[in-house]
Amino acid sequence: MTTEIFKDNELLAEAVADLMIKSIIDKPSGTFCLASGSSPERAYEIFTEKIKLQNIDCKQLTIIALDEWVGISREDSGSCYYFLNKYIVKPLGLGESQCHFFDPIATDFTAECDKIDQLISENGIDLIIVGIGLNGHIGFNEPGISPEKKCHVIDLDEVTKTVGQKYFDQPTVLAKGITVGLKHFMEAKMAILMANGVKKAEIIAKTIQEKVKVSVPSTHIQWHKNAKIMVDTLAGSLI
Ligand code: GLP
Repeated sequence: MTTEIFKDNELLAEAVADLMIKSIIDKPSGTFCLASGSSPERAYEIFTEKIKLQNIDCKQLTIIALDEWVGISREDSGSCYYFLNKYIVKPLGLGESQCHFFDPIATDFTAECDKIDQLISENGIDLIIVGIGLNGHIGFNEPGISPEKKCHVIDLDEVTKTVGQKYFDQPTVLAKGITVGLKHFMEAKMAILMANGVKKAEIIAKTIQEKVKVSVPSTHIQWHKNAKIMVDTLAGSLI
């Protein structure tokens, strides 16, 4: 694992976008597993602009959404589906068969998890891009989760329920999440953990400096064979 600190979020986003471009050029049929959220938003904008400018073909690319709020419709602006459609799928004109999302209102969540587990076991993940929760969660791998977990449904941590309100226009009851597991994160060929802003400084420092422990899921990144923690100066201010 390496750590890179950028002067501001724009430079951070640019660097992540370049790694996404490199990955797709190296392997046009690659699989990206992507988080939603404010951390990667600008990187995705720059990535899709560069794809268009450089006329890069994305027809073989596969996208897997990292997570979803259980019980919240996909059409809600707080969903991963809504976010990735807005920032990745529509700008790149990806086909439905290229994009894979958890159904947050499924009747059978075991089948939902199996569906994405199966896809990951067939394709692998070439590049996973994640943000980080203030409690150290990655996706919805909340404190206490086993690093051996594949896709699963989980009761959300209180911190996640509170912080998660920022994605919604009105107060929203958040109880469970469905997520790609830490095992998939650890087995991805390349992992990027992004963070910006001073609010993330403490958890970024813990992630890097504390021993690997289930109470801070993000610390597992220390054992990843090819991971980068990429942050702006503010998020990196306590390192
Ligand atoms: C959310 C999501 C994660 C996201 C993280 C950080 O709860 N489940 O996938 O990466 O928290 O979000 P943000 O980048 O908006 O700070």
